[in-house]
Amino acid sequence: MIQVKASTGLVALLGHPVQHSLSPLMQNAAFAAGGQNLVYLAFDVEPGDLVAALAGLKALGFRGANVTVPHKEAVIPYLDAVDPVAARIGAVNTIVNEDRCLKGYNTDGSGFLRSLEEAGFDPAGKRAVILGAGGAARAVAFALATAGCGSLVLANRTPERATELAGALAGAGLPAPVVYRLGDAGMRSEVEAADLVLNTTSLGMWPRVEETPLPPDWFRPGQWVYDLVYNPLETKFLAGARRRGCRVISGLDMLLYQGAAAFTLWTGREAPVAVMDRVLREAMGASSGGPAAGR
Ligand code: ATR
Repeated sequence: MIQVKASTGLVALLGHPVQHSLSPLMQNAAFAAGGQNLVYLAFDVEPGDLVAALAGLKALGFRGANVTVPHKEAVIPYLDAVDPVAARIGAVNTIVNEDRCLKGYNTDGSGFLRSLEEAGFDPAGKRAVILGAGGAARAVAFALATAGCGSLVLANRTPERATELAGALAGAGLPAPVVYRLGDAGMRSEVEAADLVLNTTSLGMWPRVEETPLPPDWFRPGQWVYDLVYNPLETKFLAGARRRGCRVISGLDMLLYQGAAAFTLWTGREAPVAVMDRVLREAMGASSGGPAAGR
């Protein structure tokens, strides 16, 4: 634990709700291990208080913040500057306060790419299927496009949202994504042909652990399967994929690497990822079957 002094800097998490977030544990462990004189605190900010909270970051001289549900998109118009990647994604998850100038970034996409790299998967030229079309799907889809992904299929319960995301991706360097309604039989051949299948929906998240976006017999041995859900650590989706002989990645990896990228933005230093990973896994172990969730 760091010793809190008059000179200690502050980093906030702005979300609603925030009480089950793992980021305070992860970032405070990282600040301590990295010798940073900083503390990370979670603030439950209702939508109507967001602008006041941002003014508070400036007035109190916070080093920066994470932004989570439901503020990631809403925060953009109130920032002094927005990094082009975050602007393209349309969501900010990290703020840096540089001399009272609040600049927004998105580390979800870069964190996601780093998690793939660490696992040993290079998206260049590969076929990917993304299940879901919400904020997380958007960050992941843009990240895959930047990494030279060969083709993208988008499937969502509300297909209009996937069509809208496909439109937003035009010009991102990908062939136009094919869109399906989640669960359409026609998707099966797309899933079988994919190198990477990603769940960005909330299906399977605790406490509804029996839900899964796809039947496991659609998976092909050897393909990569990634679930952005991390509570439970092994969702029904990932368990099915693993039993089919797929290589699986859990959402805890994305949580870790988006956090590591945010740490670097606030401190200018490499993040102590081994420490952060250990703290996250200990917390998940301690709360398995419990409500730990959200950034
Ligand atoms: P996030 O920022 O985590 O992506 P979001 O923007 O609310 O959150 O998106 C949630 C995603 O999970 C969406 O793709 C949503 O599908 P819809 O666009 O049809 O709402 C998907 N989702 C949530 N609950 C679902 C359910 N019960 N069945 C299928 N998809 C679901």
